[in-house]
Amino acid sequence: MYIENDVERVLLTERQIKERVDDIARRISEQYKGSYPLFIAVLKGSFVFCSDLLRALDIPVQADFMSVSSYGESSVSSGRVKIMKDSDADVKGRDVVIVEDIIDTGNTLYALKNLLLQRGANSVKICALLDKVSRRTADISADYAGFEIEDEFVVGYGLDYAERYRNLPYIGVLKRSVYEK
Ligand code: IMP
Ligand code: MG
Repeated sequence: MYIENDVERVLLTERQIKERVDDIARRISEQYKGSYPLFIAVLKGSFVFCSDLLRALDIPVQADFMSVSSYGESSVSSGRVKIMKDSDADVKGRDVVIVEDIIDTGNTLYALKNLLLQRGANSVKICALLDKVSRRTADISADYAGFEIEDEFVVGYGLDYAERYRNLPYIGVLKRSVYEK
C-alpha cells in the first residue's frame, strides 16, 4: 500500500541529495556568473531535481522544459530525437544547461544536445543528478554530475517506475518483485 514498502533499500538519502545539489549549484553559480543561462529540464523525471537546483542558485536563470525521447541509436547524427513537448524559449545564442535525472545509455541526451547546438545555442552543458556510467553507449558525459551509481533500477526524487514513486523524497532501489510480478 505504502510506496516505501516497494523499496529494497535507500541508495541516497534526502540529506545526501541536498548536499550534492547545493555543491552543484555553487559550481554553476560560479561558472555562469554574469550570464543568464537557460535551464531546460527534461520531463518528467528531472522536475524534482530541477526545482531544488534552481532554488539553490544565486544567479538569474530562465527555466524551461522539454519532453523528448531518442530513437535509440547512439551513432546516428543530430536531429534523431522525438519531441513531445518543445522548449518555449529561443535557444539561439543562449548558454543552455540541460537538466536530467539520470544518464543511462546517454542516447537521449546525445540527441538533445546536438539538436540544441543545431538550433544555434552558444553552449550546451549537461547537469545530471545520477550517472550510470557502465551503461553508456553514446559519446556523451555530464558536465555536472551528482552521483555515479551502479546498474540498478532506482526510483524516487522524480524517477519513476511505471509513473509511480516520483514523490519519494529519497532515491531507492526498487524491489525486484515489483517489476517481476
Ligand atoms: P538514456 O540515457 O537515453 O538511456 O535514458 C535515460 C532515461 O531512462 C532517464 O531519463 C530515465 O527516464 C530512464 N531511466 C534510466 N535508468 C533509470 C532508473 O534506474 N530508474 C528510472 N528511470 C531510469
Ligand atoms: Mg527522464
